[in-house]
Amino acid sequence: MKGHLHIFESLADLQHAAAEKIVTCLAEDILLRGAAPIALSGGTTPRGVYEVLGSDTYRGRVEWKKVHLFWGDERCVGPAMPESNFRMANESLLRNIPIPPQNVHRIRGEIKPQDAARESETDIRRFFGLKEGEFPRFTLVLLGLGEDGHTASLFPGTEVLEEKKRIVADVHVQAIAATRITLTLPAINHADTVIFLVSGRTKAGILREVLGEGEARYPAQRIDPASGRLFWLVDKEAASHIAGTERT
Ligand code: 6PG
Repeated sequence: MKGHLHIFESLADLQHAAAEKIVTCLAEDILLRGAAPIALSGGTTPRGVYEVLGSDTYRGRVEWKKVHLFWGDERCVGPAMPESNFRMANESLLRNIPIPPQNVHRIRGEIKPQDAARESETDIRRFFGLKEGEFPRFTLVLLGLGEDGHTASLFPGTEVLEEKKRIVADVHVQAIAATRITLTLPAINHADTVIFLVSGRTKAGILREVLGEGEARYPAQRIDPASGRLFWLVDKEAASHIAGTERT
């Protein structure tokens, strides 16, 4: 298994532990390089973590004006649509924190997918000052895990899994009959820290598969940051098929 696994008694414990880890990652990088660019995930588990981060007890612990928010993936919809990952983050976090609008790097899901991907890639290259062939070092990339082993919008059997050059790609996902915009594997694997947030009994089967040994059969198993800082924060429900107790 790659990374450090932490199993929590409850979803609330997971969410608070994740918020603590995020606050620490942000503070460390703000100290080190004066800014903390992070990529947010969509999904229900991350949503709860954003609500904790934007709460009275956590909001004041982050220097939001030095944080830059990007997205690990986005649906091809406008920011007000229910499926929008931006909308979810806006409702659960953005509207509760004093982050300057220019620090919010929304993927414009409402425009043509290839244009949205190109625009987001250009924004990332500009922010990180990247030369051709270089990848961004996000302070932190947050990820969820789908029951089919997808993460971000890296779905099984899609050609984006073999992308070696692009940072952001548009991909048509046959399995869900939808086009998505997603960070690519090299972009995620260049991050300083990657945290998977996984909860609920429905994820128990895939989590055991993904954390098992052997060759990578699922996209989530190809997340392997060069920095080595990979954390799996899961609740007991999701870990119910994994033998043993908390491991780090
Ligand atoms: C998205 C996410 C996706 C999500 C998983 C798990 O856009 O939906 O990027 O990868 O993290 O589908 O979602 P849940 O946490 O809601 O199960």
